Amino acid sequence: MIIANWKMNGSKELIKDWMDFVSQNIEINQEKECILCPPTCYLYFTGTLIKQSYEGIKLGSQHCDSVLSAPLTGGTNSQMLEDAGCEFVIIGHSEQRVHLKESNQILSDKLKSSIGMNLKPIFCIGETLRQKEANQTNDILIQQLDAIPSNLLQKCIIAYEPVWAIGTGENAEISYIEEIHSFIKEELKNKSNSTNYISVVYGGSVNLENCKEIYSSDKVDGLLIGGASLDSNTFTKIFNIS
Ligand code: 13P
Repeated sequence: MIIANWKMNGSKELIKDWMDFVSQNIEINQEKECILCPPTCYLYFTGTLIKQSYEGIKLGSQHCDSVLSAPLTGGTNSQMLEDAGCEFVIIGHSEQRVHLKESNQILSDKLKSSIGMNLKPIFCIGETLRQKEANQTNDILIQQLDAIPSNLLQKCIIAYEPVWAIGTGENAEISYIEEIHSFIKEELKNKSNSTNYISVVYGGSVNLENCKEIYSSDKVDGLLIGGASLDSNTFTKIFNIS
């Protein structure tokens, strides 16, 4: 799967143009889904367009609140996301962990709430540069994975996004990605007590130059792309050569 995380970018016009171009120039199949995560305010617009004309593209949200009901100004719950046409939701992105001060308890509640509405969470984990340099990566990842109730593991997609690689132009080396993905996959196997497959995708400065090498690894089940997903031409090329 190739996931476009637009973060706080875009407009109705850009979304329409992007979907027009991308849908005409990529070949989507069951193995390789195309998921667009626009800002929350464009979800309903994007979901409606998908239903009308771009059935192959799937809709994901960048945000979901942890409860279905609360007097929460600015809140968006999983029921609203489902209503807008979302099938996926990004949870635990490092930018939100910092910005919203999300604890494992909150993240766990978000996971339960979104899975309860049949949304598929893309659960992000990853270490900071300081944690990497202090050899704490594995401990941090274990701690972050602890937010997922073990009976819900099978319903999640895990996104490994080293914080130091996000938006910096410095993607992790393929050998490092493979080492960490193997570690995560082993942890998931132990935690879920099952051999069922859980996808682990990579994100962090994925671009036209590095996408093929990263995606072609058998340890990598997909890409979560920020900056390079905004331009429809670049995203299409990444989708097609990956
Ligand atoms: P960049 O691809 O811009 O580094 O962003 C990665 C990311 O945060 C995707 O969720």
